Amino acid sequence: MPHATKSKPETRTKDEKGRDRPPTIFDPNWTWSNPSSWPLSIRFLPVGVAIIAIGLATYFPSVFGNPYGRLMVDNSCVGTFNYTFQIAAAKRHAENLATHDWEIGTAGQAILELISPQKAVFSANPFPNGKVPYNLIKMDEALLYVFENVRIWSEGETIVSNNYSVSDPASLGVSAVMIGQIWHGWAQAADEQKRYLLEKAPRHANGAISHRVEVAELWSDAVFMFPPFLAYYGVAMGDEGAVREAFRQVGLYRDVLMITDGDRKGLWRHIVGPSETADDGAWSTGNGWAAYGMARVRATLVGWEKGRDMMREEVAKLDKWMLENILGAMRTDDHESGLLRNYLADNSWFGETAGTTLLTASAYRLIMFMEPGAERDKILRWADRKRRAVVQHVDEDGVARPAVHSLKHDQREPFEGINPEGESFLLLMGAAWRDCVCAGVCTVGP
Ligand SMILES: *[C@@H]1O[C@H](CO)[C@@H](O)[C@H](O)[C@H]1NC(C)=O
Ligand SMILES: *[C@@H]1O[C@H](CO)[C@@H](O)[C@H](O)[C@H]1NC(C)=O
Repeated sequence: MPHATKSKPETRTKDEKGRDRPPTIFDPNWTWSNPSSWPLSIRFLPVGVAIIAIGLATYFPSVFGNPYGRLMVDNSCVGTFNYTFQIAAAKRHAENLATHDWEIGTAGQAILELISPQKAVFSANPFPNGKVPYNLIKMDEALLYVFENVRIWSEGETIVSNNYSVSDPASLGVSAVMIGQIWHGWAQAADEQKRYLLEKAPRHANGAISHRVEVAELWSDAVFMFPPFLAYYGVAMGDEGAVREAFRQVGLYRDVLMITDGDRKGLWRHIVGPSETADDGAWSTGNGWAAYGMARVRATLVGWEKGRDMMREEVAKLDKWMLENILGAMRTDDHESGLLRNYLADNSWFGETAGTTLLTASAYRLIMFMEPGAERDKILRWADRKRRAVVQHVDEDGVARPAVHSLKHDQREPFEGINPEGESFLLLMGAAWRDCVCAGVCTVGP
């Protein structure tokens, strides 16, 4: 209460020899009416407030509002892009509903591609000076999200503990490598995760790393979860063996899961293995996991200066494998909703948004890898049609429906709740389309 001090005669600002003394932080006799008596803590209060405000704005950019369909990062094409659906709301669902390790890993990647595209592997220069990009002061929103939502298993063999799945914890791996630039524990967790994958995890007869812990079983899902991590880790650590293994694993998965003939040619089976979960169907979301996982590995190889020349053949193969998969999805696209069926090439299944969204995102990434020409145009027109079909099924609250139940892929009814991974796929699709438009390859028109 400054007024209470007013009645006391002011003597303290002179020292014992009568000289003016600058006010100190602890001077109890300052008054509001006499600015020269203000202690330093008051004089510099506006500076403190400004620093806190800048800090908040830096760490929580979403506080400052998201107009319809836009995220407004800056004034560039990317920053002002109109995604044409409630992408900010979808992002909130992706963040809030992700509970399993792969859901958080996927949301983290999606937010990175959406908000910090210059740091994602699809950027023109994902490894500036050959290094993993990082900010000393401001952690990227995507990394902060993962950092806050994951407690790493510091004494364990994988990033987080998972008794069922080998590959799901690895979906956090790229984020772990990036966060590891600042927090050593995360770098160690990434090391352990890589060692577990390469040295301990069960393997299929052909050497493919199992998706599951208990039995050697290959799921198309795994191609999104661990090869992109192995490739990214390899570039970050200068571990060429890990980069090559990432590519080899994709090929081993394809050898087992890809369907070579009939009307499902080019599509991937969902699960091959000895247990009752085996699933010969071409699950739409599973094909999306495989295609987008291949795109991430491919982009990592090309973003790595050394890999660009050395791994030309591998890159060409990944392009071919993505193309055969997307063409397979295009051939089986026959549901009246415009959405792909939950199991492709099986007309007993409903059309749904999750798999359609991830395959559309994959198609946009593939388009960016292709040379101009009739085939690219055909895929581009298809991707635009599927994107518009998805957008028509996203409500004002950013929820895509109908969607498969992500934990019960063969449930005959669409999920009544919100599919958490499906909301992340919306962000991946938005980012992939935006990158294609901003590169001048895709257009925004109808
Ligand atoms: C974004 O695009 C949609 C669909 O084209 C349009 O309805 C909406 O008005 C646009 N939003 C803004 C902020 O420009
Ligand atoms: C894995 O199994 C061990 C031993 O049964 C258990 O203590 C641990 O909580 C399990 N971890 C998870 C993530 O379920």
